[in-house]
Amino acid sequence: MKREDIRNIAIIAHVDHGKTTLVDELLKQSGTFRSNQVVQDRVMDSNDIERERGITILAKNTAVFYNGAKINIIDTPGHADFGGEVERVLKMVNGVILVVDAFEGAMPQTKFVLRKALDLDLPVIVCINKIDRPEARPQEVIDEVLELFIDLDASEEQLDSPFIYASAKKGVAVLEMGDTPESMQPLFETIINYIPAPEGDPDANTQVLISTIDYNEYVGRIGVGKVDNGTIKVNQEVVLVNAHDPNKNQKVKISKLYEFEGLKKVEVNEATIGAIVAISGIPDIHIGDTICSPENPEPIPFQKISEPTIAMDFIVNDSPFAGQEGKYVTSRHLRDRLFKELNTDVSLRVEETETTESYKVSGRGELHLSVLIENMRREGYEFAVSKAEVLYKYDEKGKKLEPIERAYIDVPDEFSGTVIEKLSQRKGELQGMANGSGGYTRLEFLIPARGLIGYRGEFMTDTKGNGILNTIFDGYGPYKGDIQYRKQGSLIAFETGEAITYGLFNAQERGTLFISPGEKVYSGMIVGQNGKSEDIEVNVCKRKQLTNTRSSSSDEALRLTPPRILSLEQALEFIETDELLEVTPTNLRMRKKILD
Ligand code: GTP
Repeated sequence: MKREDIRNIAIIAHVDHGKTTLVDELLKQSGTFRSNQVVQDRVMDSNDIERERGITILAKNTAVFYNGAKINIIDTPGHADFGGEVERVLKMVNGVILVVDAFEGAMPQTKFVLRKALDLDLPVIVCINKIDRPEARPQEVIDEVLELFIDLDASEEQLDSPFIYASAKKGVAVLEMGDTPESMQPLFETIINYIPAPEGDPDANTQVLISTIDYNEYVGRIGVGKVDNGTIKVNQEVVLVNAHDPNKNQKVKISKLYEFEGLKKVEVNEATIGAIVAISGIPDIHIGDTICSPENPEPIPFQKISEPTIAMDFIVNDSPFAGQEGKYVTSRHLRDRLFKELNTDVSLRVEETETTESYKVSGRGELHLSVLIENMRREGYEFAVSKAEVLYKYDEKGKKLEPIERAYIDVPDEFSGTVIEKLSQRKGELQGMANGSGGYTRLEFLIPARGLIGYRGEFMTDTKGNGILNTIFDGYGPYKGDIQYRKQGSLIAFETGEAITYGLFNAQERGTLFISPGEKVYSGMIVGQNGKSEDIEVNVCKRKQLTNTRSSSSDEALRLTPPRILSLEQALEFIETDELLEVTPTNLRMRKKILD
């Protein structure tokens, strides 16, 4: 059976090229919202942090109706650190819309996501977005995208992909640049005509591969996946087949089944071939499980989840300021919150340590962990974090291996020298260098993940905020030896909200610090400009105090408590002898200030 009434698509793009805006517009124009209803901007990003950073973190499902057909749309995460998610959601769809900014053109993440779609033989609709931008150069961008297709060994058929020009912001799309823009209709039509309807046998044995997990306080874990075969019904007895371990298979009864409509889930009694469904009531459901009918249960092969490469300790905030800013300060609070996160984030790992004051949290990169930290702070958790450390492995011969990232960098020509120098110091190896458009140089590096810790903030300063840095996990490689950081002159001032967060990681690296010009701060903060000697106000909490038990550390901590004024030289001296550690209230306050 061919489900002409369904299309399943994913929207893929480089960060900020406009996926979320496009999906919002498709929702509005398909009448998912009544016209008199005020539509919140960027409805897709329900999570605050996502909204603020503009990065879509978790893949989200939504569905719109067009001419009687239901279009299931999956918004994918825009950052490489969350790359595993992209691959998994692509397994649910029959085609993708590749959104490319009409000015920025093809970017590293464009290539990364396009490769994944082409590897899975998915039809691609190329959507050149932001054509309203005055500097838009749609024709050149089309050539760049075609070059990408060729680079990636696209088939004849894939090279024939339809192109569409859009301004998601204005809610219009056209098939040819000269056409009069009216609405998103040309895009809706292209989706219906070009993306194949899902096909299968509704009477075959049931198979639903669980591709994402949602979590809700009231109903618990919710598995989301596509009905690949057969039909799934409420009250049906099924087997939940574990992708890796048949001993973990379990018999369950389907109690609640939902489909997506707009941004909501609606309960249904049954769903068949091609439908994207959500299933609640199975506490032990995991990504990669296949729901099968009991007769001949067969799992669907499943995309492996990317391993964590970086770890940090989350530590109970033992400073005398604990409880001033946040609601949740105890070890129990911290523990419960971290373990709850595991319900929805499969690339995350949380481990107990010898002390209940501290938990080891591992993730898929700096950004991944920084998003979790920010989320928790927003919710009122107060805690400290240790410096980030990469997770090493050992090969059969006992040789040490470390995670290597591939970094793609676009910088104004005049800054390329500095960037190359800095990354080389950090054991980066230049893989390629090319002149990009508009006075930009494009660089490609292979660099140990630890070499990137704390680098983003420095990069933004070195390129005056005009550089673009993207990293993709490349794999484990031989350990590259110690990295010698320059001890002096690496103080940086951050002024944007975005950079503050990266500053946080800078602080956890030897000799590189938090900055906040003119800010009054309580902990681990040092103000200064590159090379400039400025007075700073600082109250430092040392790591060892925080990891010790409360009673033995409180004396030490109190002695350091009153804010001290240090000169830049004193600060550098201090940093060479002690590890700096960031404590919650300061950053919270700073962020608040910036957001206000
Ligand atoms: P991530 O979720 O971070 O991957 O970003 P995204 O691809 O979802 O991009 P998003 O929709 O958040 O848009 C990024 C920025 O581009 C926002 O500031 C949008 O307002 C802007 N934008 C999106 N579409 C258009 C467009 O058609 N024209 C113009 N001028 N700006 C647009």
